[in-house]
Amino acid sequence: MTARIIDGKAVAATVTAKARAAAEAFKAAAGRPPGLAVVLVGEDPASQVYVRNKSREAEAAGFRSEQHNLPATTSEAALLDLVARLNADPGIDGILVQLPLPKAIDASRVLTAIDPAKDVDGFHPVNVGLLAAGSAEKALVPCTPAGAMILVESAIGASLAGKQAVVVGRSNIVGKPVAQLLLQRDATVTIAHSRTADLPAICRTADVLVAAVGRPELIRGDWIKPGAVVIDVGIQRIPAPERGEGKTRLVGDVATAEAAAVASAITPVPGGVGPMTIAMLMANTVTAAHLREGLPRPAFNA
Ligand code: GUN
Repeated sequence: MTARIIDGKAVAATVTAKARAAAEAFKAAAGRPPGLAVVLVGEDPASQVYVRNKSREAEAAGFRSEQHNLPATTSEAALLDLVARLNADPGIDGILVQLPLPKAIDASRVLTAIDPAKDVDGFHPVNVGLLAAGSAEKALVPCTPAGAMILVESAIGASLAGKQAVVVGRSNIVGKPVAQLLLQRDATVTIAHSRTADLPAICRTADVLVAAVGRPELIRGDWIKPGAVVIDVGIQRIPAPERGEGKTRLVGDVATAEAAAVASAITPVPGGVGPMTIAMLMANTVTAAHLREGLPRPAFNA
């Protein structure tokens, strides 16, 4: 079997188009655009790129878009003060504080200070709790897991009843929330991680395999069940001397070419889950805007 390559860019473009249309409808109903504030503390180059892309996409979608760049030396109190001001700003529907934060700042205290109704990252304990309680329809759901689920749906449909799902990775940002979402779709879910015994054997049980461990090409072709749907959330740059001296390439947690020979559908890296994350941030911001104004929640599923 040769797997279908799931085109994350194309699916993300569909979600973005829906978010833009929902933003237009929101503007007509509420008399203002959805508003997104993105906060960056420090000068981490990767975070600078992510934050710039998020702000740009928000502008392109017709949102009110604010970017707050604070120095690495910012105190926790000053950051909490900014969060309080954004919480109180009626034209801001979404607040995203880019992670990681400098070590001197308690990230969990900051994330908990964000108004849950504006928590477009879905990291506030209220949103984590709603998702865990099976009330995802009332929650703001983390962007990368929500995007991964739309890709799963594009490959095999919305119902995962009778399917075995394996999530490799137990982070709060991806592993745990994506496991909750798979469970909500009636999959039988296993969460595996770095301390799991015989990881290859666990992966071989998966009809749906979600890889989010951050270990380049850990998951090999012979770990894949024939016909499985493989969603690769990992992305890392590794040396590629075969392309010439000093060259690099982007890889995920899955050895894609090997896995594609066995799977029925697989996400590439880059161009799979990555493009979905920003699209889902736009979707979450429009969703937060609707819910804050008492309007029905828009849909973004495949
Ligand atoms: N850093 C890496 N991924 C994320 C994310 O999804 N949200 C935020 N706020 N920071 C991140």
